[in-house]
Amino acid sequence: MSKIILTGDRPTGKLHIGHYVGSLKERVKLQDEGDYDAFYIMIADAQALTDNAENPEKIRNSVLEVMMDYLAVGLDPTKVTFFIQSEVRALPELTAYYMNFVPYSRVVRNPTVKNEIKTKNFGRSVPMGFVNYPISQAADITAFKANLVPAGEDQEPMLEQTREIVRAFNRIYRSQVLVECKAILPENQACLRLPGTDGDEKMSKSIGNCIYLSDDAATIKKKVNSIVTFPREIEAPGILEGNVLFTYLEAFAKDEDFAKFYPEFKNLTKLKEAYVKGGIGDGRVKKFLFEVLDAELTPIRERREKLAGKADELMRILEEGTKKANQVADATLEEVKNAMGINYF
Ligand code: TRP
Repeated sequence: MSKIILTGDRPTGKLHIGHYVGSLKERVKLQDEGDYDAFYIMIADAQALTDNAENPEKIRNSVLEVMMDYLAVGLDPTKVTFFIQSEVRALPELTAYYMNFVPYSRVVRNPTVKNEIKTKNFGRSVPMGFVNYPISQAADITAFKANLVPAGEDQEPMLEQTREIVRAFNRIYRSQVLVECKAILPENQACLRLPGTDGDEKMSKSIGNCIYLSDDAATIKKKVNSIVTFPREIEAPGILEGNVLFTYLEAFAKDEDFAKFYPEFKNLTKLKEAYVKGGIGDGRVKKFLFEVLDAELTPIRERREKLAGKADELMRILEEGTKKANQVADATLEEVKNAMGINYF
């Protein structure tokens, strides 16, 4: 079976280290392994508009920010097709047909959507486009016949919804046009859902608890120092449970980092053993965490700075990719309409 990878992000601002460990790193790994037939990354501007209709310029301006983040982490336009969602007209058309397979009650039961509705303060005016976005996401994925989706853990309900639509379509129209997909998630538990610097369960732009890939060293240091930990005497035993410093270390610290920045300990296991015994202050752990993060983010930040002056080049990459994406999505739409028998002329 062919391997088609597709994923995407909403352009609502710059990407942060939660995106990085939760999905971007995984994408770079997949790209470098090269074991796929096609690899698409979509900038989901139409989805971003479902809760930003009054702010289209914020979404538009974020397209290039996200593109810079992609290339800065090492994604390569010669290996990956980058495109802009709103420029692929087959997607809303597929969405319209798929809506007929999804009961209203199913849409409002989606746990990620439910959670987002709570945090976004829509009040009683939840936009229809917003509750519908999982169905449009099914169009994004199936238009390319993608079977592998490297995205954050919170995207699993969208993939479940997509699979339900695929099964319904193929059953009702006795077709094999649409393909089922599955998620690719990081193995490291700490990477699955990186908490915010305020300890909130999720790093999120709208909460304002993010460390961005573009943050400079001084900003990272300030944000790391602002992380709240349990107050205790240095000699007292440290607590690992719910300790954001250690969750970040789990996600980022490598044995080489210990050799370079904290040679008293060989690895994270040894540091943890000592921390729970007592005698290691959180200030010391924060210093180490800062050094680890800065070492990982400095090359990304430097590459990103070089890309900042290359807006035209980035736009051309997106334009080329979008052309290719349209060809593939149009072909799938044709097959879908044929399967439904709504091909008149
Ligand atoms: N919902 C994803 C996010 O919030 C963005 C997205 C849109 C996506 N379409 C997709 C992700 C298709 C994976 C596959 O970041």
